[in-house]
Amino acid sequence: MEFYDVVKARRSIRQFTGETIPEETLKRIVEAGYYAPANDHFRDWHYIVITDKKIMKQAVSGVPQNLTERDVDDMTFISDPIQKKSYQIAVPLQYKMLTEASALLIPLMKKKTDLLHPSCLSDLNCYASIWCSIENVWLAATSEGYGCNVRIPLGNEEEIAREALGFPDSFMIPCFIGIGRPREDAAKVKQLDVNTEEQIHWNHF
Ligand SMILES: Cc1cc2nc3c(=O)[nH]c(=O)nc-3n(C[C@H](O)[C@H](O)[C@H](O)COP(=O)(O)O)c2cc1C
Repeated sequence: MEFYDVVKARRSIRQFTGETIPEETLKRIVEAGYYAPANDHFRDWHYIVITDKKIMKQAVSGVPQNLTERDVDDMTFISDPIQKKSYQIAVPLQYKMLTEASALLIPLMKKKTDLLHPSCLSDLNCYASIWCSIENVWLAATSEGYGCNVRIPLGNEEEIAREALGFPDSFMIPCFIGIGRPREDAAKVKQLDVNTEEQIHWNHF
């Protein structure tokens, strides 16, 4: 696919056919992550690529499994009906979108600063950098005809994954990634309109 077609085709995919992704394709997709920019030049990210269903389920066993559309009503930060609809689609699928994916990807970043108590914006650079890597993976998956979703680990979800996967305390999970072939009827969430004419400024705000 042409670059701008890939960028425009990338969506969050939370429902998959279950088709297996060949190992060499998964490797190519994850390796794309290592071409992302990195604040400190190290690119010392790790990815755990999990295709074994039992391990996938263990790794995300901390993700709530029984959420419904109604749970979205308690999310006080939601301020727009389109945004609300997107959460009503996504929230009930959080566990399934990871365990019914063909593979679960776990990016790992080294804890170099106190990310939850940063003293300046640069303290967050390692987090920003791994998200560049994650976006590369997401775009690579799209260009190969696959789709991805992401979930930020909440509460003890990271600790449960650490226990299941055995990665050291010095690493953090920025997000879980489910990847697979999009189901034909996979829900694509309506997006809020962005007026680039208003939001892209030339020379002055
Ligand atoms: C930093 C970040 C965190 C996100 N967290 C979640 C999440 O926890 N669960 C989820 O289903 N989607 C999550 N998403 C996906 C967004 O909901 C999604 O990108 C947004 O609705 C736009 O839809 P699109 O990806 O189809 O363009 C996250 C995306 C980003 C960039």
